Amino acid sequence: MIPTLPKNNQMIVIDGVDGSGKGVQSKLLYEALSVISSQVLLTREPGGSPAAEDIRKLLVEGEPDKWDSLTELLLMYASRRSHLVDTIWPMLAKGGWVISDRYADSSRAFQGIAGSLGLDLVEKIHYEVVGSFEPELVLILDIPESIALKRAFGRGGKEDRFEKKGNEYHAKVRQAFLQIATGNPNRYHVIDANQSIPVVTQEIFTVLNHHFNINLKVQ
Ligand code: TMP
Repeated sequence: MIPTLPKNNQMIVIDGVDGSGKGVQSKLLYEALSVISSQVLLTREPGGSPAAEDIRKLLVEGEPDKWDSLTELLLMYASRRSHLVDTIWPMLAKGGWVISDRYADSSRAFQGIAGSLGLDLVEKIHYEVVGSFEPELVLILDIPESIALKRAFGRGGKEDRFEKKGNEYHAKVRQAFLQIATGNPNRYHVIDANQSIPVVTQEIFTVLNHHFNINLKVQ
């Protein structure tokens, strides 16, 4: 059950290929929104609730062929359901801001398009799990996958299962995000992420300031 949410919710998603700078930009956005509101939540997918973080570990560690695309999709939606019910919807119901580092467009791009399941199947499962709820704004950080993957691998760590799927897979992911974004220009904004961090931040703040009639400033 979706709790009663404000008509125009304050959920902002930052999405894009691995290594596009989502993590850094989400954090900068969190800091800037925290200046104007005491109710700001920074979260991520897969993960974002204690149970969903357990599922995250299954998804992001290990060998790329550990799960096929459909199993990945089902695990992503199990984690998303927990994230929505336990974390996102309660915050939106209180009138707060939610910034999510990835959300459902990652399932569309990674499992639906790059993973060849097709968008129809993703939309069917999406509707059963999420209903008609949509985030207010989705910012797609766009950058050539070859540059982004170098950055992502440079970080090291165990969470590299998707990075190891290779350049061809990630080239499809990048194109998928661009394709998805053309579907709804009010909700989706593509930001050129192959620029310096402050320039990307400024572009994100400009979109938000216009959309929400606020005045975020780059520090
Ligand atoms: P992260 O490294 O950005 O936290 O994301 C972990 C990986 O999970 C990333 O490579 C993209 C992938 N992913 C999907 O394949 N489908 C999804 O629905 C989500 C949310 C993430």
